[in-house]
Amino acid sequence: MNTRRRLLQAAAAAAASAAAGAGPAWAQATAAPPVALQRAFPRSGERIPAVGLGTWLTFDLPINDVEGLARRRQVLERFFAAGGRLVDSSPMYGHAEAVMGELLARPEPRLFSATKVWTGVPLYGPTQMRRSLSLWRLPRVDLMQVHNLLNWRTHLKTLREWQAEGRTRYIGITTSHGRAPDEVRHILQTERIDVLQITYSPADRSAEPLLALAAERGVAVIVNRPFDGGALLSRLEGRPLPPVARELQCESWAALVLKWTLANPAVTCAIPATTNPLHVAQNLAALQGPLPDARQRAAVLAALG
Ligand SMILES: NC(=O)c1ccc[n+]([C@@H]2O[C@H](COP(=O)([O-])OP(=O)(O)OC[C@H]3O[C@@H](n4cnc5c(N)ncnc54)[C@H](OP(=O)(O)O)[C@@H]3O)[C@@H](O)[C@H]2O)c1
Repeated sequence: MNTRRRLLQAAAAAAASAAAGAGPAWAQATAAPPVALQRAFPRSGERIPAVGLGTWLTFDLPINDVEGLARRRQVLERFFAAGGRLVDSSPMYGHAEAVMGELLARPEPRLFSATKVWTGVPLYGPTQMRRSLSLWRLPRVDLMQVHNLLNWRTHLKTLREWQAEGRTRYIGITTSHGRAPDEVRHILQTERIDVLQITYSPADRSAEPLLALAAERGVAVIVNRPFDGGALLSRLEGRPLPPVARELQCESWAALVLKWTLANPAVTCAIPATTNPLHVAQNLAALQGPLPDARQRAAVLAALG
């Protein structure tokens, strides 16, 4: 479908929704549009929706916090209903894995589970990973990553064994905040991994050379901190959207920022974290409509100031 036709359809849908007093499309309940933007894992060809869900801080709450849990349940329900699949956690995220275990439906065929091993004690790695499975209440995970490259040489060996035994389907490493680029480059060049998780957003473009290398090496890229930990969107709050947002069918800064990130073809999935069901809908809206071309990407950057 060409862009003009898409825009006309979107305008007609918006008009119909406004006439019905229903508010913007992202605020609608659960009518899930088909997931338009999926990206493939280079090693397997398996495709996943290009927006996932982080859990750092946002899902770290005591298991007996009934109100807090109810809100996270809404976040998850909205996430899956809008076509989301990849949820990322870690033993570093306090109660987050236990909260996932509590909230997930069983079975939950839409889930693509991603967690991490994070210990400086090499021998503790397998115990910690088994504990993660038990907290998520899953027999296996889809992706196990070495968190922040900690002890990566030892843990990658274990991860390979787990992969061979079918306890994780994919293996990877994570870093953030532009840390340790030389080590990441070394791993990409010398090790066989499936996934690199790294920080990338209009606020931090330092990963771009590594994204290119990952693509060259057949490694999928998961983008963490897509909103710069939230700072990027806080700064934009209340500011009107720029004209390029209409071209890209974005009704929020969040979707616009995510589309800027997803326009990099090396990116497989961005994983914004949120405690707010409405924000989930805004973030997943980035899966719909066109992605920015080079001119539009520049316009987004200019608008971010
Ligand atoms: N080394 C690593 O492995 C590593 C490091 C960092 C992060 N990560 C992973 O990446 C995930 C994402 O990174 P992050 O949590 O640090 O930062 P982020 O996703 O860039 O930002 C999260 C913040 O953005 C806000 N937000 C989300 N959607 C929004 C929207 N539509 N409108 C307004 N505000 C919105 C959230 O607040 P509300 O709750 O109010 O929506 C939250 O405070 C983490 O949760 C974690 O899973 C991994």
